[in-house]
Amino acid sequence: MPDLFDPLTLRSVTFRNRIWVPALCQYSVTERDGVPTDWHLVHLGAMASGGAGLVIAEATGVSPEGRISPHDTGIWNSSQADAWRRIVDFVHSQGAAAGIQLAHAGRKASVYPEWGTDGNGTISEAEGGWQTVSASALPFTGYSAPIALDAAGIEKVVTDFEAAGRRALAAGFDVLEVHAAHGYLVHQFLSPLSNQRSDEYGGSLENRARLLLRIVSALRALSDEVPVLVRFSATDYAEGGWDEAQTAIVAGWAASAGADFFDISSGGNVTGVTIPVGPGYQVHLASYVHENADVDVAAVGLITTAQQASDIVTSGRASAVLLGREMMRDPHFALRAAHELGVELDYWPKQYLRARWS
Ligand SMILES: Cc1cc2nc3c(=O)[nH]c(=O)nc-3n(C[C@H](O)[C@H](O)[C@H](O)COP(=O)(O)O)c2cc1C
Repeated sequence: MPDLFDPLTLRSVTFRNRIWVPALCQYSVTERDGVPTDWHLVHLGAMASGGAGLVIAEATGVSPEGRISPHDTGIWNSSQADAWRRIVDFVHSQGAAAGIQLAHAGRKASVYPEWGTDGNGTISEAEGGWQTVSASALPFTGYSAPIALDAAGIEKVVTDFEAAGRRALAAGFDVLEVHAAHGYLVHQFLSPLSNQRSDEYGGSLENRARLLLRIVSALRALSDEVPVLVRFSATDYAEGGWDEAQTAIVAGWAASAGADFFDISSGGNVTGVTIPVGPGYQVHLASYVHENADVDVAAVGLITTAQQASDIVTSGRASAVLLGREMMRDPHFALRAAHELGVELDYWPKQYLRARWS
């Protein structure tokens, strides 16, 4: 089994270690134009200089209406791609790979940032929000009702993901991640609880997976070199909803369509369910998908210590770990983890060499 600090190669990209940063929305585009800011440079740059192997930029709208909030980043135009280029270049200068999570929030779009300080729920069109779309006209609890996408709307979603992927590659990103988790648009299509369509995008598992598979195929066609990741919520934690078994089957199909790696999270599509939150609470979901679909996975969710991260990788339950909140508390987690595990690194930033633990 590999160690936490062993490199990992996917297609033409080699990650220097298996400590990765997942997408973390910052809601920091105050201009509301989707252009990433200096905040994003510092936020992602610190984690890159802190030794992470891969840093994935936040859920980034493939279209204006695909953003969760008006303050999200986007990648639907060249001004955004140009601003991303500066950030990607810095991440590369620190030896980390740069990923971007391509996202469409569907019925969970047009809401206030999750800070709880500005308001809650849907932002009205009068306040700069927009009409949301989804698989079906079923609202997420507490949010405005979406419009069900028609055939032309679905085509636009696929071409928006493809164009966003093309721009991301032009900006220098090494990894494209499709956000198919947390109750956002692709998850809304996957789950029978949010998809009640009767056309070729609803009903059977194959139909519910069609949007995801089309997006993966479109991204794969852009390049043979770049790894395509898919983030799933492996379960809705709800009777009659999306679950591990469906996730594993669709992960296998997505791998055949060109996806290389799977980032396994959970929940987010329905409220009122019990999520068994605790240290490493989603690791068993990642290893289930790994074993049942025979695909490579990363584990995420309350992984906070070096030993815990190391055990997950060395036991073969996942090929990499993603740390979100711990990285926000300590962007140099990877450097600290190496020290705690007794691993010598040759990628300490030279500006910080005098701060090495002795
Ligand atoms: C501030 C914040 C922003 C997040 N933004 C995203 C996001 O953009 N996309 C996503 O898939 N998950 C997002 N998440 C979920 C994280 O990627 C991660 O899966 C979750 O926090 C669990 O990992 P952790 O316990 O290491 O933080 C976010 C979480 C936090 C705390």
